[in-house]
Amino acid sequence: MWLLAGVRGHPASRILIESRYSQIGIPVERIALDMIAVRFGRIFGSATCVAAIAACSVAVTLQAQAPAPPPAPAPVKERPIPKVVKKDGRYGFMVDGAPYLMLGAQAHNSSGWPNMLPKVWPAMEYLHANTLEIPVYWEQIEAKKGQFDFSVVDTIITQARAHNMRLDLLWFGTWKNGSQHYMPEWAKAEPEKYSHLIGRNGSPADSPSPFAAASLEGDIRAFTAFMRHLKAFDPQHTVIIVQVENESGTWGSTRDYSPAAQKLFDGPVPADVLKAMGKQGDFPNWTAAFAGEAEVNFHAWAVATYVGKVAAAGKAVNPLPMYANAALRDPIKPGAPGSYEAGGPTDNVIPIWKVAAPAIDIESPDIYNSDPVAYLKILDLYHRDDNPLFVPETSGSPGVARFFFSVLGLQGIGFSPFGLDYTTLPTPPPAAPGAAPAAPTGPTQDQYSPTALNYRLIGPMMRDVARLNFEGKLQTAVEESGTPTQTLHFGPWNATISFGAGGRGGGGRGAAPAANPNPTGRVLVAQLEDNKFLVAGYYGRVDFRPAAADKRRQFMRVDEGTYENGVFKFLRILNGDETDSGLRLSAEPIALRVSLGVY
Ligand code: DGJ
Repeated sequence: MWLLAGVRGHPASRILIESRYSQIGIPVERIALDMIAVRFGRIFGSATCVAAIAACSVAVTLQAQAPAPPPAPAPVKERPIPKVVKKDGRYGFMVDGAPYLMLGAQAHNSSGWPNMLPKVWPAMEYLHANTLEIPVYWEQIEAKKGQFDFSVVDTIITQARAHNMRLDLLWFGTWKNGSQHYMPEWAKAEPEKYSHLIGRNGSPADSPSPFAAASLEGDIRAFTAFMRHLKAFDPQHTVIIVQVENESGTWGSTRDYSPAAQKLFDGPVPADVLKAMGKQGDFPNWTAAFAGEAEVNFHAWAVATYVGKVAAAGKAVNPLPMYANAALRDPIKPGAPGSYEAGGPTDNVIPIWKVAAPAIDIESPDIYNSDPVAYLKILDLYHRDDNPLFVPETSGSPGVARFFFSVLGLQGIGFSPFGLDYTTLPTPPPAAPGAAPAAPTGPTQDQYSPTALNYRLIGPMMRDVARLNFEGKLQTAVEESGTPTQTLHFGPWNATISFGAGGRGGGGRGAAPAANPNPTGRVLVAQLEDNKFLVAGYYGRVDFRPAAADKRRQFMRVDEGTYENGVFKFLRILNGDETDSGLRLSAEPIALRVSLGVY
């Protein structure tokens, strides 16, 4: 109807026509006539259409003398595409052209629907997250075979922009936690074509076969359409990274035992896989090359090859960073193949994933093991020279929040506790304008606050933290039971971090720290200049000592402040009790700028 109204002289619709088309050099009268022709042609057929056009052209001519319309809104500016880069052996995640740190939170699996989003955004706001991880479902975007509907994706992106949030979209395609539950119904209805893998017992397992050509073709088609759509709909890159599949691989079977798979398993191992796994020589088949690890290595190669093809096809149309997430094996006692999900990028097969799926930029651990030794070991296993550290999923439990600082200390590019939306909790009422977002209520509310504390501190200083980390100037200390004191080395200075009470107001000047009741301490120290440091964190105490034994430190000046929108805002100079026993960090999100001297 708006076209007809425009021709009749409705000013708003005339502006709409002009603003859309005058920029590309087409006279507005011509467009109006063309559009009417299309409309009328559809409704009444071409004869009626000709008469209508003749009548309407008079109105169009009259409109041509109307006053000039206001300028058209500026077109959305395309921002630089996000990238993972490596410099001087360190990785950075460049978003809008500068290092970025994902302060992430992942929504529950079934939260990627418009009716659920009102339970997602308030949680993200409470957490001070800057990136929401949320699924995109193959079954949703291609409910009818060959017909793509991205309206839900568009809703998520549009609402994310309104909430000033970036997105990590999770492609729930062929694999979701090892199964094919997110394949569209039409694919599930033809299991002989979109086939399950065959277990050792000869029966189909609840897991897709990585050799199913129809599944691969369908996934490639859908994922490519999705990535192409993102390119067109999101020139400002609200979506900064994409996860390809979810915990791909298989539970309960170490590989596909179908005849086609068996034939490949009995054949030679690709040369790049042998090289990646440090094997030299000629091996007639996978068993000869890898013995007891042959089946898991074979399945990793098969799954990675499939996922790599999906990723490469999507990247060819829209080269956003992409990653694959892993359900882990135990990092300390991995157990025999079969005791963990096989095929995904578990630590033992990262080199296979690197060669079989080069379009995947990052192999990432989903960490649900909250034992500190295991947690740190996992970080170590995924922080590799050929792999940036990114934790796209981790337990939201309070004891895990401090490991966000451990990830930072390894130049991690992001961290994202799982399931922190309000779909399982009562959504708190909206906060008054300008007030802090309300905290969640209910039995699991405590899961949210340690992450909120982390992101409240780091959020406003995120760009500085990401840049300092990319430049190799930032280190962290995280409290462990039994190690209340840790030392970080910065050339001429050593920073000593102690956790728990001690010093004035906590045991007397110089008293040894006693550790926090639970290990919650977490501190970052970054060297701004030779003798200048940035210090921030919670539940710890920081002091500095010159590396040279014959020198003593003095605080030249300690500024306490808070970051607001990336800018340090001075609050006061700390001195006296506040510095005599070191610099104390409590539960307040403050930052310190410290100038040191010696005597
Ligand atoms: C790991 C998966 O990747 C998530 O999608 C979700 O299923 C969680 N496990 C649940 O703990």
